Amino acid sequence: MIGLPPLVLRALELMATLFVFAVGTSLLVILFLYFFDKYQTVNSIRRNYPVVGRFRAFFEHLGEFFRQYFFAMDREELPFNRAQRLWADRASKNIDNTSAFGSTKNLAVEGTVMFANCLFPRLDDEAMTPSPILFGPYCKQPYQTNSFFNISAMSYGALSKPAVRALSRGAEMAGIWLNTGEGGVSPWHLEGGCDVVFQIGTAKYGARDDNGELSDEKLREAGNNPNIKMIELKLSQGAKPGKGGILPAIKVTEEISRIRGIPQGEASISPNRHPEINSLEDLLDMINRIRDASGLPTGFKAVIGAYGWLDEFCKLIRQRGIESAPDFFTIDSGDGGTGAAPLPLMDEMGLPIRESLPMVVDKLNEYGLRPRIRVLASGKRVTPSEVAWALCAGADAVNSARGFMFALGCIQAMKCNRNTCPTGVTTHNKRLQRGLDPTDKSVRVANYARNMTKEVSIIAHSCGVTEPRKLKRFHARVVSANGLSVGLNELHPEVETRPEFKD
Ligand SMILES: Cc1cc2nc3c(=O)[nH]c(=O)nc-3n(C[C@H](O)[C@H](O)[C@H](O)COP(=O)(O)O)c2cc1C
Repeated sequence: MIGLPPLVLRALELMATLFVFAVGTSLLVILFLYFFDKYQTVNSIRRNYPVVGRFRAFFEHLGEFFRQYFFAMDREELPFNRAQRLWADRASKNIDNTSAFGSTKNLAVEGTVMFANCLFPRLDDEAMTPSPILFGPYCKQPYQTNSFFNISAMSYGALSKPAVRALSRGAEMAGIWLNTGEGGVSPWHLEGGCDVVFQIGTAKYGARDDNGELSDEKLREAGNNPNIKMIELKLSQGAKPGKGGILPAIKVTEEISRIRGIPQGEASISPNRHPEINSLEDLLDMINRIRDASGLPTGFKAVIGAYGWLDEFCKLIRQRGIESAPDFFTIDSGDGGTGAAPLPLMDEMGLPIRESLPMVVDKLNEYGLRPRIRVLASGKRVTPSEVAWALCAGADAVNSARGFMFALGCIQAMKCNRNTCPTGVTTHNKRLQRGLDPTDKSVRVANYARNMTKEVSIIAHSCGVTEPRKLKRFHARVVSANGLSVGLNELHPEVETRPEFKD
């Protein structure tokens, strides 16, 4: 130590003291935890392996994050694997989305979808923009759009304010619609000036009177709002069929109370179904009431489980006349997303869209109700081939919720129910919301929608048709148990309209 200046010596002494203090304190903490763990009665691992047992929970927690980066294969994770997320991410950033060397997708796995390319694909100059479709030909204000890829229902509440603002502005830029979800129409949905689909859930948020009943006055107001193009009555969603919800009093702020039409500071209950809709007759009555009062095309959303009712429903529409039909039917997949739901409903309740979509399309064809009832499909359609499959199966358009969440920056942290979403998409924590800049993310939302349209069109051209809405079942093939593919048209043969319903 000879030769060192006194100041350095003193600093070394201080650091040595701090080191001894830190080691001593750590030993004391470990000793305390050891006895605490050994004599607590709640956790058996920690009781048997004091202190060390704590690492298990810690590593399990970390594994949730690290698997995604280091261990999971590109096509392995659920609900969305890295390949799907990467496509959505790159499409939203409008950066080169081509791949090199060859596909990493195993095409021998049962259920894999592939497309039947044509020997003479469409020349680039034959390509057409998606053809328009009309909703609600018999209502006062029919709605026409070219878009076949739109933003699925997610309420302001499940999503943060900057997320809804980005979606609204991005939807306007890309010319697609934005579904409000069941939390009512907020100023943030309208901010960007996009086409809006107003969803009415079981609590009738945004469309209810002081007693919580559906209000014709509010429906008329919706009809007078130039941005609101259609109304969707929500019966169920794939992630939680038959489940209601409670909005805790603390979340019913002045703003939420105004948007949803509920008393401020009081908890609000969403019943697990519409209490006044007890039968198919009631459902049709309700759809017609909403359409008459608002003047807007009106449809409903449900996940298919039991399906015998489809025949009864089509017969009822035929008895009453096709004017009485819903203008669209949004079919949600049993594996759809949500802000929060019980695991058994999320995992095992309701049919996946790959089964329910062809079934509903066939039923509507059988009764001659296509294209009177437009079919919208949602459920894990985040890449072009998934959207193209739905169009081949017979959907008029596809809705995506989580695809657009990826466009907003979602990293699949799966924290939507905890107010801790690290990307600000589903949290009301202002600090976390800061990460989501609505201006930047609105461009990503628009890019994602545009690139989706572009690449689904590429699939269509390769199949030999001029635009995505011309895709048919025979354009898609599905790998069967023996590793060979069968046409979607063989798996689900097109159903002829019954002679009595051929108009
Ligand atoms: C955060 C979040 C909130 C949602 N909120 C609603 C809602 O209010 N109403 C509804 O009908 N569906 C809601 N959904 C379901 C979606 O609209 C969609 O039907 C489902 O997630 C399947 O589409 P996806 O696979 O593209 O996400 C929500 C989904 C998510 C992820």
